[in-house]
Amino acid sequence: MSRITVDLHGKVALITGGGSGIGRGFALQMARRGASVTVVDLNGTGAAAVAEEIKALGIQSLDYQVDVRDQQAIQAATSETISHFGHLDFIFANAGVLGLITASYNGIKAGAHVIPYRVTKAAAIMYMRCMALVLAPYDVTVNAICPGVTLTPMQVDYATRTATERGITTKEYLDERTSLIPMHHLTEIEDLTGLAEFLVSDSARLITGQAIAADGGVMIS
Ligand SMILES: NC(=O)c1ccc[n+]([C@@H]2O[C@H](COP(=O)([O-])OP(=O)(O)OC[C@H]3O[C@@H](n4cnc5c(N)ncnc54)[C@H](O)[C@@H]3O)[C@@H](O)[C@H]2O)c1
Repeated sequence: MSRITVDLHGKVALITGGGSGIGRGFALQMARRGASVTVVDLNGTGAAAVAEEIKALGIQSLDYQVDVRDQQAIQAATSETISHFGHLDFIFANAGVLGLITASYNGIKAGAHVIPYRVTKAAAIMYMRCMALVLAPYDVTVNAICPGVTLTPMQVDYATRTATERGITTKEYLDERTSLIPMHHLTEIEDLTGLAEFLVSDSARLITGQAIAADGGVMIS
């Protein structure tokens, strides 16, 4: 299967929650395509480790230990990124809620469990749509990526806890979840980074206000 490749040399990306899982995947993919990357994470060690991986690719990277709920700190990291690189082209609000937001199929599909999580993801999608309208006159697009079940540290932790509660193995639990996905595939980080790459490309210049799932059909099932 071939994937799109976008040249991001000369671009700058800032990624929150970039120290682990999906955010780390976004950060590394932007760097592989040539963009300089600022990695922001509550976990300073995680952010610094990803910044080192990026520098090993020969790409510039800054890292900040920031809780995205701390508005002053996130603004400072953003301003320092702009003064250091001269501009900022993409923001991935992957931890909590800003450009490209990581939402979830849970923010659209109703369900009888993880209800507070579904409500916050639904709010993130509405916030994304409102910001898309606010920023449209400036030619800035705002979209949300909705991952399916992706085996990041967060998901593995959730799966392990749920499996233990139910007295089954984590593998049995994940096999059960996979069988409920219409396409019977878990989401790989590459499925999400490919979508992100497209959304930041010139080909997507008029795509805004959209919540796009890469979930094997969970959201429509
Ligand atoms: N993994 C999945 O199956 C899945 C599915 C749908 C949506 N998502 C969403 O994807 C995003 C990333 O999740 P992940 O699975 O990669 O999890 P993860 O736990 O592997 O990574 C999340 C990162 O965000 C950081 N973080 C958490 N709170 C923060 C805060 N307040 N400020 C700054 N950084 C913070 C963590 O330290 C961690 O490094 C989340 O928004 C999650 O809800 C994940």
